Amino acid sequence: MGSNSNEMLYCLLGNGIKNSLSPIIHNSFFQSNKLESYYTTLNVNSNDLKTILDTLRKLNFRGANVTIPHKTDIIPYLDSLDSLANSVNAVNTVLYENEKLIGYNTDVEGFMKPLRKNIQRFDNKKAVILGSGGASKAVLYGLINANCKELIILNRTIENARQIVTKLDSDIPISCHVLNQKTIDSLSDVDIMINTVPLHKTNTILDFHSDLGIKLAYDLEYLPKETNFIKQMKSLNADLIYGYEMLLSQAKLSFQIWTGILPSDDSIDGKILSILGV
Ligand SMILES: NC(=O)c1ccc[n+]([C@@H]2O[C@H](COP(=O)([O-])OP(=O)(O)OC[C@H]3O[C@@H](n4cnc5c(N)ncnc54)[C@H](OP(=O)(O)O)[C@@H]3O)[C@@H](O)[C@H]2O)c1
Repeated sequence: MGSNSNEMLYCLLGNGIKNSLSPIIHNSFFQSNKLESYYTTLNVNSNDLKTILDTLRKLNFRGANVTIPHKTDIIPYLDSLDSLANSVNAVNTVLYENEKLIGYNTDVEGFMKPLRKNIQRFDNKKAVILGSGGASKAVLYGLINANCKELIILNRTIENARQIVTKLDSDIPISCHVLNQKTIDSLSDVDIMINTVPLHKTNTILDFHSDLGIKLAYDLEYLPKETNFIKQMKSLNADLIYGYEMLLSQAKLSFQIWTGILPSDDSIDGKILSILGV
């Protein structure tokens, strides 16, 4: 950063984030909106979070994104939470304003926005969610609020799925099962299939066949663009939502919280797609 006092500092707080796309996305937004600001990644251990935040308070700091493993850990060090972040119990965006750190969650809306472009009515939809980690929390919150007819969670460690469900306030039927081929084969009439597991990265092979009746598939994994999950869903002729769509949608909402500007320049979509490859 230079000495220009208008130049604000933004960062991603996480661990193992050196290849994150967030700096490319947000620095492009700053550039296209002619804002002299800078976004960088800060790898932080949970034990150092408070110290880092205390240091940022002393700098020309305006905002941060928060990712694995700090989305919940960070909450005690913030001055306040907006109501959504409070309900989800997870923060992915921090705004520093009037010497206060305020926590927000744009993952829920970032997930729902691309989905709402494809689906108008949720109350007659059965959704299956693969995974019950941090991303799944935002997915579940969004689908419950959209009033889906039924939610089915499949997770490798069933206790983790059950733990998430016991904390949810919902009248919608939600069931948890172990994520394996047998459970997948037992599914039917799946309106929406959502993947929040790093299936491609971990080379986890699951077979999704046409009898499942999948109408729309949403993969949160975004690297590469055409994951094995997306390829399979394409062959089933399901409508598709790619991981990069949520990535960009949550980023645009964070940017709006920090700057008041909702980026409309979709040239970033092409830039990100060329990085993700096929
Ligand atoms: N597109 C976006 O904007 C966006 C936003 C957030 C996250 N994501 C993506 O979503 C994925 C999950 O992120 P997260 O934050 O939820 O991570 P997380 O909190 O670490 O959760 C990971 C989930 O995947 C499961 N899992 C991990 N390795 C597995 C394997 N080999 N076999 C079966 N299940 C496995 C875990 O199951 P256990 O409970 O059994 O450990 C857990 O349910 C990542 O690919 C991330 O990049 C995308």
